[in-house]
Amino acid sequence: MPEENKEPLPPSRREFIVRTAQGACAGALVYSAADSQMLSVTRLRIPMERLPSEFAGFKIGFASDFHLGPAVPAATLRRAVELLNGAKPDVVLLGGDYVDEDSELVKRCMEILSGLRAREGVYSVQGNHDYWVGSGSYSAALAESTSIKDLSKRGFAVRRSSGVLWIAGIDDNWGGNPDFSASVAGAPEGAPRVVFTHNPTLADELPEGYADLILAGHTHGWQIYVPWITRLFMPLESMRKYRAGFYKTKAGLMYVSRGAGVIYPFVRLWCSPEVVLITLIPA
Ligand SMILES: [Fe+2]
Repeated sequence: MPEENKEPLPPSRREFIVRTAQGACAGALVYSAADSQMLSVTRLRIPMERLPSEFAGFKIGFASDFHLGPAVPAATLRRAVELLNGAKPDVVLLGGDYVDEDSELVKRCMEILSGLRAREGVYSVQGNHDYWVGSGSYSAALAESTSIKDLSKRGFAVRRSSGVLWIAGIDDNWGGNPDFSASVAGAPEGAPRVVFTHNPTLADELPEGYADLILAGHTHGWQIYVPWITRLFMPLESMRKYRAGFYKTKAGLMYVSRGAGVIYPFVRLWCSPEVVLITLIPA
């Protein structure tokens, strides 16, 4: 009498493919969940011509696209504050998109970000999402903040005995009304300019040589980044043009941040969130 075969049967080809796909999806989800939580500081050293000698080593903190909401807890914002404060920036610039869809959370976001510390101050512009939820909530939140100042339509001079560094914000080009002249009104002739805004496509609208450094966010680095592939799914030409990192534009060198938060589909893959610390050095 033949013995019963106790060996498990090999999986069929179809079953093997399904199991492999399930494993890959589970792995991707786990990795994505971890990737979204991997907020870290990206440290950049940027040479700048015309930089007055006393600004060598001047540190700029930049953070954008927090999107406080269902997928981004307050803990992520507190971690961003902790990371930036730990880097001891001279100034902090915030690039907008504080919430996703809930205007009530703008105030909560600003309360947390009010914990940021920098000798020359903390400054902010709005992103398209802040306009979409109603910019009144942004204005009200900043009115209550003692430390964050709106810089959407103006700039200011950081002065040292060897010269001036001009820092300016520009309003969002989707939801707001950028005023290029207002942002540099009063900038001394020959002073280097650091400009920040929400949407990197604004660089295409700026006059040639407008800034020595432009900082922007908005793209989230596309959140899911597979070289050559993700680009095919970007619906807007403007999103395809700028993703993350450095770009030489006619207006000046630009850095596009991957952002600190996440929006729908609430996934990051091979594109971790960041806050940025820039150290200026003489060219
Ligand atoms: Fe955003």
